[in-house]
Amino acid sequence: MTTESHPGLRERAAAALIAARARTAALTDPVTDQDLTAQHSPLMSPLVWDLAHIGNQEELWLLGRVAGRESLHPEINPLYDAFEHPRSERPKLPLLGPAEARRYAAEVRGRVFDLLERTPLEGSALLDDGFAFGMIAQHEQQHDETMLITHQLRRGEPVLTAPEPEAPYEAPLVAEVLVPGGPFTMGTSTEPWSLDNERPAHPRDTAPFWIDTVPVTNAPYEAFIADGGYRESRWWAAAGWRQIREHGIEAPLFWHREGPGDGQWLRRRFGVTEPVPGDEPVLHVSWYEADAYARWAGRRLPTETEWEKAARHDPATGRSTRYPWGDADPTPAHANLGQRHLRPARAGSYPAGASPLGVRQLIGDVWEWTASDFLPYPGFRAFPYREYSEVFFGPEHKVLRGGSFAVDPVACRGTFRNWDLPVRRQIFSGFRTARDV
Ligand code: AVJ
Ligand code: FE
Repeated sequence: MTTESHPGLRERAAAALIAARARTAALTDPVTDQDLTAQHSPLMSPLVWDLAHIGNQEELWLLGRVAGRESLHPEINPLYDAFEHPRSERPKLPLLGPAEARRYAAEVRGRVFDLLERTPLEGSALLDDGFAFGMIAQHEQQHDETMLITHQLRRGEPVLTAPEPEAPYEAPLVAEVLVPGGPFTMGTSTEPWSLDNERPAHPRDTAPFWIDTVPVTNAPYEAFIADGGYRESRWWAAAGWRQIREHGIEAPLFWHREGPGDGQWLRRRFGVTEPVPGDEPVLHVSWYEADAYARWAGRRLPTETEWEKAARHDPATGRSTRYPWGDADPTPAHANLGQRHLRPARAGSYPAGASPLGVRQLIGDVWEWTASDFLPYPGFRAFPYREYSEVFFGPEHKVLRGGSFAVDPVACRGTFRNWDLPVRRQIFSGFRTARDV
C-alpha cells in the first residue's frame, strides 16, 4: 500500500493519535496531582510516569527515528525507559510533575502533527502505510489500558464514569461450538499496523475441537469456588497452587464476601462495591485460576492456535478474516471495546460479533488466557525494536487473546497477541474453555 492508493491514511493516523490523547486526558484530568504522582500499587507505575512515557516514546520514534531530530530533553529519556527502572522504583525517580508531563507530551504532539502533514508515508518500513504513527497510537492506547488498571487498583472515591453496557443481546443456543480439524492461516503479513509478533501469516493445522460459545461467566466460577476449587491441589498447576497458598487467594482479585455464613460475593470495580453479576464474563483471574477452573470443569484452556482458528477461520471460504465477523473494522454493535463501558457486557451480548461457526464475544469484554507460551511465529523478525516482543518470548509468559473492554479498536485485531506472567490478576483477564473431540 502507498499513500497514493490510500489517500485517507494521514487522516486515519491523525485520528488515531487524537483519540488516544483524548483517552489519556480522560484518565488523568479527573485525578488530583497527588493521586497522579502516588503509587497505587507496587505492580504499577504512578500515572504521571505513563503520561510522560507516552510522550517520550512518541518523541523517540516519530521525532527521533522518523524525523531525525535531537531529543528535546535528553536527560529525561532514561527515566522513561521501561527497561531501566522497574515499576516499583518509578515513584522515587525525579519524574516530571503532572503539569510538566502534560506540557511535554503536548509539545511533542504538536511537532508530530507538523511531521505527519509533510512526511511521505512510504519509502521505509517505518513509514510505509504510516506504520510508525499507527504503532505510537497503539502504544498510547496500551498505556491507557495500563492506566485503567491503575485506576482499578486505586483505593478511594470513584473518579471515572461510563454508561452501563446496553449491548444487543441474543441468548446463545449452545454452550460450545465444534471447530473442524484441518489447516488455516494464522497471523498476518498484510495488516498494515500489525505488530511484529503477529507476523508473518503462516499455515497451521489443528485437530477438531470444541470451544465455549462465550467466555466463562461468574456464576459457574462461583460454583467452582463453592465446590472447594481453591482448596484442592488436584485442580492446580504446582506453581499456581503455591501462589494461592502463599497469598491466601480464594477468589478472583477484587472479590470479597460479606454477610451471614459465607455470604454473597461482592466485587470492587473502579471504586464501587457491588454484587458479582452471575452472567458477566469472569474478570481478574490469573492463568493458574483459569487453568484450574478448566480442569475442574473437565475441560482445558484452548491453545493460542485454536483460539485464533475459532476467531478467524471461515470454513466457507477457507480464508482467515481480520475479525470473527469478517474484515470490517469493529463498531459498537460488534464488540465491547474502547472503554465505552467500565465492565464486560453480559455473556450473549453482541450477536453481530459472532464468528461464522457461532463463537461469540471473542473480541472485547475480557482478555482470554490461552494454554500457550508466548513464542515467535516461524519467520518472525523483530521490528522495529527487540524490546517490544522478542525479549518476552519464552515459557514464562502466557498468551492472552481478543482484547478487553479497555482495549481500543486500533490496538485490537483477530491476530493481536498480548502476554503476561501466569500469576497476573490485576489485568482485565478472563478465559473460555475447550475440549478435544
Ligand atoms: C503488550 C501489553 C504486554 O504494556 O507491557 C507498552 C505493551 N510495550 N509499552 C505492556 C507495551 C511497551 C505491553 N503489552
Ligand atoms: Fe510503553
